Formats: sequence, C-alpha cells, structure tokens
Amino acid sequence: MGTTTPSHLPVMYAQVLDGLRIRPDGRYLDGTFGRGGHARGVLERLGDGGRLLLMDKDPEAIAVAQAGFGADARVSLYRGSFADLGVWDETTAGLDGVLFDLGVSSPQLDEARRGFSFGKDGPLDMRMDPDSGESAAEWLARAGEAEIADVLWTYGEERMSRRIARAIVARRAEAPLVRTAELADLVAGIVGRRDTGIHPATRSFQAIRIHVNRELADLEDGLAAAHARLKPGGRLVVISFHSLEDRIVKQFINARAKAPPGNRRMPVAEAFAPTLRDIGGARRADAGEIAANPRARSAVLRVAERLEVAA
Ligand SMILES: C[S@@+](CC[C@H](N)C(=O)[O-])C[C@H]1O[C@@H](n2cnc3c(N)ncnc32)[C@H](O)[C@@H]1O
Repeated sequence: MGTTTPSHLPVMYAQVLDGLRIRPDGRYLDGTFGRGGHARGVLERLGDGGRLLLMDKDPEAIAVAQAGFGADARVSLYRGSFADLGVWDETTAGLDGVLFDLGVSSPQLDEARRGFSFGKDGPLDMRMDPDSGESAAEWLARAGEAEIADVLWTYGEERMSRRIARAIVARRAEAPLVRTAELADLVAGIVGRRDTGIHPATRSFQAIRIHVNRELADLEDGLAAAHARLKPGGRLVVISFHSLEDRIVKQFINARAKAPPGNRRMPVAEAFAPTLRDIGGARRADAGEIAANPRARSAVLRVAERLEVAA
C-alpha cells in the first residue's frame, strides 16, 4: 500500500505534479481550475519568472480563482472551455505543461442549485457554464425519444435506456421535468432500487451531464489544442473518471506515440514520426488515497511528453 493522501488534497496530487515536471520558469496551463487544489501546487513550484494560466467553464470556479490567485502577477485567468485554449493569446508563446482534471468538481455536485445531483433536489440544469447551451431540462423537453435513449446508452451504458427514454417522453406530455428529484424518481421507478450501493439514476445523470456539457467533444478538441501548443519536452497530464474519457485520452496518445501496425497491402509504408512519448501508461490512485477519497477510485491518470519534430 502506498502513502496515504490527505483527503483535502485534490485527486492524484503528487502524481499530477510529478507528471507536469514543473520548471520554476515554465509556463503551465490548468484547463480545469475547479477549486484550485492542483493549481496551488503548481504555483508553489513556480519561481517569479514562471506563469500559470487558469481556465474553467464555470463562472463560480473563475470567481474563486480571481479571489485566490488574481493578485498573483504570475497568474492569468480565462473563463471558457479548454477546447478553446488555442484562441487564448496567453498560450501562443507555447506551454511547458497542460493539465486537464476532467469532470465535475465537488462544489458542482454538492450544491443542489447547480442541478447535477440526484440526491439533492434542485433545478434540472447540469451545465458547468450556466450561460451557455441548453440545460438538462431544456434538452429533455425537446429531444426525440431515440436521441434520449442513445445518450443514456452511449454515455451512461444504461441497459434500460429505451424504457427510460419512453417514460421521459410520456411524462413530459403531461408536465415538463424541471427538478432533479423528478428525474431521479422517474428513473428509479424503472431501474428499480437494486441493493448495489449506487443510486439507480447514477448512470442516467452521468449520461445527460456528459451530453449537456459536450464533455467528450471538448476533450477531443482540448487534447488537439494542447498538443498544438506544447513545447518540445512539455507535458500533457490528464485525469479521467470513466472509460469513455480514458479511451479518448489513450487513443490520442497512442496515435501520436506509436507507429500504426504495418499493412501488407500498402507496399510503401509512410514514415511515422512520433510527436508524443507515453510516460508510464495508465496510473491509478493508491489504496490510501482511495480510502480517504472515494472519488479517486475511478480516476485514471495519463502523462505524455511532446517531442521535437524534425523539420
Ligand atoms: C474535477 S474538477 C477540477 C478540480 C481541480 N483540479 C482542483 O484541484 O480543484 C473539474 C473542473 O473542470 C471544469 N471543466 C470541466 N470541463 C471543462 C472544460 N471543457 N473546459 C473548462 N473547464 C472545464 C469544471 O467546471 C470543474 O470546475
């Protein structure tokens, strides 16, 4: 068993900071500020000449970043998706490290008014950025039955996706679904309360959240944008919390780190020039951290290094 990570530290804290391999005068980007646990660790390792660029979609996270770090001359803030990191002029000088700690933050889950929680009743919203795109309630009010079933199946691996989608469409013909408790009860009525320790609406809430926030599309765009901005030797560090995310990260790194298998029907194989080096494959939190922080159980961390590309 490894060392115990205190529960107040963010997920896989030591591994993230090791993975970024912080140089005191380097320029780093934390694309998922949250409440700044990882960002604080990066700042502690930066000297006066270092820079830390902080992004988050959530205006409440950016307000915390402004209050806590806004006065630090080494820090710049940007409210928006990390998918757009390339349009932020602070990134054009190149980056020595990029961190994405994916998914929702504890405050987003804990505050009923944000509408992410099946355990606490609140407005059915689920947007990390409440000023952009459709809320979960708006989407569920207009989406077709097949589209809802697809989202529940693809992003939640919910086996009862069709029945749940049918029930949502029947229910909204009578009255719109506007509260998290209404959706949680409707799903629980179909899935049943199995004695598994997880709420029967867990998978449906996860799926709708991923859809409403375009999480997988943002991840693909964010990886490409980070790759384009990383300097040779710069590090990409990503923590994902479910297999759909991790598959995207793994495939992104592999496609740039390993030559594709040879194809005998193609007589002239194109030379493969890797642009990333995989550092250590998939890593997980140790048992001590998982005991202190159950959310760490599903975390998978991957690190890659940007390579110099011969002209
Ligand atoms: C797991 S939390 C990050 C926690 C953070 N590492 C810490 O130490 O407090 C994820 C955060 O990323 C934000 N987020 C998720 N996807 C995002 C995206 N595509 N662009 C910007 N922020 C995003 C969420 O709003 C949330 O605040």
